[in-house]
Amino acid sequence: MEELGIIEDGAVAISGDKIVGVGKTEDVLGEIKITGETKVVDAKEKVVLPGFVDCHTHPVFAGTREDEFEMRIKGKTYQEIAAAGGGIKSSVKNLRSKSKEELIQLALPRLDRMLSHGTTTIEAKSGYGLSLEDEIKMLEVIKELSKIHPIDLIPTFLGAHEIPQEYKNNRKEYIKLITEKMIPEVSKRKLAVFCDIFCEKGVFDIEESREILKAAKDHGFGLKLHADQLSALGGSKLAAELGAISADHLEFIDDDGIKMMKESGVIGVLLPGACFGLGITEYPPARKMIERGLPVALATDFNPGSSMTESMPMILSLACLMMRMTPAETIVASTINSAFAVDKGNDIGSIEMGKKADLVIWNVQNYKEIPYHFGVNLVDQVIKNGKMIPSPLGGEG
Ligand code: NIG
Ligand code: FE
Repeated sequence: MEELGIIEDGAVAISGDKIVGVGKTEDVLGEIKITGETKVVDAKEKVVLPGFVDCHTHPVFAGTREDEFEMRIKGKTYQEIAAAGGGIKSSVKNLRSKSKEELIQLALPRLDRMLSHGTTTIEAKSGYGLSLEDEIKMLEVIKELSKIHPIDLIPTFLGAHEIPQEYKNNRKEYIKLITEKMIPEVSKRKLAVFCDIFCEKGVFDIEESREILKAAKDHGFGLKLHADQLSALGGSKLAAELGAISADHLEFIDDDGIKMMKESGVIGVLLPGACFGLGITEYPPARKMIERGLPVALATDFNPGSSMTESMPMILSLACLMMRMTPAETIVASTINSAFAVDKGNDIGSIEMGKKADLVIWNVQNYKEIPYHFGVNLVDQVIKNGKMIPSPLGGEG
């Protein structure tokens, strides 16, 4: 978790969208030929890192929920607001009223903000549609966004995010709709790589989660869970039992959960933005997980309810200050480990020969400045698929 493999006085060579050389500048210069067509970018006195992989986001939504933010400040809890018809249900109402094109236009500036803060790949969930038609609509929006925006989006089906209003008194029917209609249809149309669930008291219990995730597994989806976020329900253990790729949140995970996840190779995705955004004091026990050898990844959980931020640097600051992760651990957790949390560890997440040229030049002399200097954007230049992206701090584009 702390091994960064720093190269002082280093250089990276890129051809097309791939990294073709990395090492000491003099070694790289010895290996590649600079021609009149080669673009040379000077990163002297700067730090170059792999682009962030934000491996847990909900970026497609309509309407914002700042009134709930204020209600929480005044003392209501996330669960109380949800029980009163707010929360995810209010986002569902808003999303259903929008067309695909409207949702795309709403999401694009959010992706721009992610990119300008150094994120080059995200995992993106559905879960505000909660009907066959609206879940498909969301996943098609995610697919289209990945085509038209430089950021790569990896789609996750989250039909089990909440029981929609119209199934309030008939949850069994909704679960049937997910397992018998939505999962087969999303699989047939190849609209998602992963299937996720909100496994939580008052949402989907362990039995229901097992049933839904098993159906998803049978249809070839990788599995993810929102687990042990607001209570110690045991989602982390279910993730281990089913061989999920990751279990996410984990604020209330216990020792057995950590042990079982480690033994089954489940990655722990930690989302301190959701704790901060909800104003709660229970952060996941990151130190304990790392000391016990559980690989940990970091993500924004960007969504209008609990974590309204596109900024991975902010998440690194929170991880350092609220979970006592070291700056080096936060870099590993947000690049290579988060790449593995979306099954892309062999293509992205580190600066290695043959990997995608997704790089960020930082306007700092030491990587530790990134979490240390919080609440600002220190990105100098983003390079995505080998192309220079115009940057907020004057990178040339
Ligand atoms: O990751 N926990 C469930 N889902 C989101 C919140 C979604 C919402 O409130 O809109 C989360 O925190
Ligand atoms: Fe989430």
